[in-house]
Amino acid sequence: MSAHTSHITAQDFLPESRDLAALAAAARTCRGCELYRDAEQTVFGAGPRAAPMLLVGEQPGDREDRAGQPFVGPAGRLLDKAMAAADIDREHVYLTNVVKHFKFTRAQGSARRIHKAPSRTEVVACRPWLFAELESVAPEVVVLLGATAAKALLGNDFRITEHRGQVLRAPEAGFQVVATPHPSSVLRGPADRRESAFADLVADLGTAAGLLSKGLR
Ligand code: URA
Ligand code: SF4
Repeated sequence: MSAHTSHITAQDFLPESRDLAALAAAARTCRGCELYRDAEQTVFGAGPRAAPMLLVGEQPGDREDRAGQPFVGPAGRLLDKAMAAADIDREHVYLTNVVKHFKFTRAQGSARRIHKAPSRTEVVACRPWLFAELESVAPEVVVLLGATAAKALLGNDFRITEHRGQVLRAPEAGFQVVATPHPSSVLRGPADRRESAFADLVADLGTAAGLLSKGLR
């Protein structure tokens, strides 16, 4: 193949429409990077069309890849608990990921698929879907879950550890932004830090919810 194929991104697959159903349908056949090849399906965002709060994760995991829905595995369960603790109803928020296909490796001789972080190239290739979702949903507040989401929107130099829980604004965006640790990092982190990491996540979700002009109902 010629070299120019490496410049293909999700942008080449975006429809004119910003209707969520039209975007999700178009994303199903996206080949904006290599990740569609090994994954089961595109996992597009899910939630109300005009949700005032939009949450962005990294990429679907094993369970999400099978189900075709974001945040339905272990990280999703932890996020559900954190949202409940922050008085946020999952039904009222839009949940999505920066990268829409599951990236994984297999341990030798094992069927188990192990999550692999997306590269910056894959993030940049897939990000047009997220930008389109942001245009379509037009949330008041965006919560960035983890470094991949935060860097995708706030720049590659952004450090969660320095800025978590602060109320920020993305360049030229009409919404406020709060970055917080990813639920998977709470799950995978050291056991003695799990409670405080969970408390950070709940506090930051609470900060984000507190910015909503009309609450979440
Ligand atoms: N982790 C994510 O970042 N997103 C999901 O949808 C599931 C796990
Ligand atoms: Fe397209 Fe994103 Fe999937 Fe790559 S990861 S093929 S850019 S939807």
